[in-house]
Amino acid sequence: MGKSDFVFATCRAGWESSLKREVAARHGRLLTPAFMRPQLITWKSQTPLSAEFELGGAFAPVSGFSIGMARSAEEVALRVSEAGIQAADLHVFPRIIAEDGVTPEVWLRMDKIKAAVEQVCPLLPEAVNVIDLIIGEEGEPWFVGTHRRSPAAHPNAGSVPRIMLPSGVPSRAWLKMEQSLAWLGLDSSEVLAGQTALELGSAPGGAAWALLQRGMKVIGVDTGAMDDRVLTHPRYDHIGLSAGEVPFDYLPERVYLLAMDMNLAPDVALRLMEPFYVRLQPQWLILTMKMNDLRVEAQLPSLIERARSFTNGPVFAKQLHANRRELTVISQRAE
Ligand SMILES: C[S@@+](CC[C@H](N)C(=O)[O-])C[C@H]1O[C@@H](n2cnc3c(N)ncnc32)[C@H](O)[C@@H]1O
Repeated sequence: MGKSDFVFATCRAGWESSLKREVAARHGRLLTPAFMRPQLITWKSQTPLSAEFELGGAFAPVSGFSIGMARSAEEVALRVSEAGIQAADLHVFPRIIAEDGVTPEVWLRMDKIKAAVEQVCPLLPEAVNVIDLIIGEEGEPWFVGTHRRSPAAHPNAGSVPRIMLPSGVPSRAWLKMEQSLAWLGLDSSEVLAGQTALELGSAPGGAAWALLQRGMKVIGVDTGAMDDRVLTHPRYDHIGLSAGEVPFDYLPERVYLLAMDMNLAPDVALRLMEPFYVRLQPQWLILTMKMNDLRVEAQLPSLIERARSFTNGPVFAKQLHANRRELTVISQRAE
């Protein structure tokens, strides 16, 4: 696409101020907030931005260039053609995304809009851009944006896979794990079956339950009480110790996935995690980083750098919709 003056980002419900602070810290006076609705903010740039510009930011599940508003499929096609965008995919998603996921009825409405737009807006599978069509309340014009496909971007529309928190899972960490696996592209069938995960901070066991349901062997470390279904699962091995006391010779040589979700300050959690990462050389890392106060938010860039200092591969952070006062940090091993 050509040069553009406006960028946008979505965010988790109630985290608009954190997103604005993060964008101000990353881009200074270049960007001025232009338009704000719950879970959607746009900024105007002081100077035209090149097509390579990345708004980025951990509090932005989706971000990219704004290309205007539309009230019909034809108007979406017009905005896209005026902006000179060739897109590989069209992501249609609701502006309001609840922490427990989006209902099938809402997805049905999104899919109808998507089908209508696809009739008039040709897609090119080899293109690098994705069109984001964000649907607000009844009567509100649709927001049209675009982002580039990249390992940092979540592959699902709105950064939210089509799953809701089911009743009866051991904890809401089930949905956090499912949303993280979808971001990593590990949610297709059989990818994880037979592989081993080590989970630091495993109780009561929602995340372990998600991994067990996907056929993994899970070693869970926690001094807290585990859900019985997890504890007695034949592929679950519980270590009832604090993470700092785990004897490494009890662990396998390598694990496929290292997951950590401990209610500790992020710098403490990273210090505890480093020796496990270095020793077990996981292919994938999923770390839940607690964002308990503004001080931690301000430290976020240095915390990500700290994670980069010992991981072998790019590190990305994103607040997924199932995260509460926390972020998800991921990394895929480079070699
Ligand atoms: C948010 S919960 C984990 C949720 C869990 N992943 C699930 O799927 O249900 C945080 C857990 O971290 C554990 N924790 C905190 N400090 C720890 C430490 N040093 N070693 C092991 N576990 C710890 C707590 O006992 C608590 O169960």
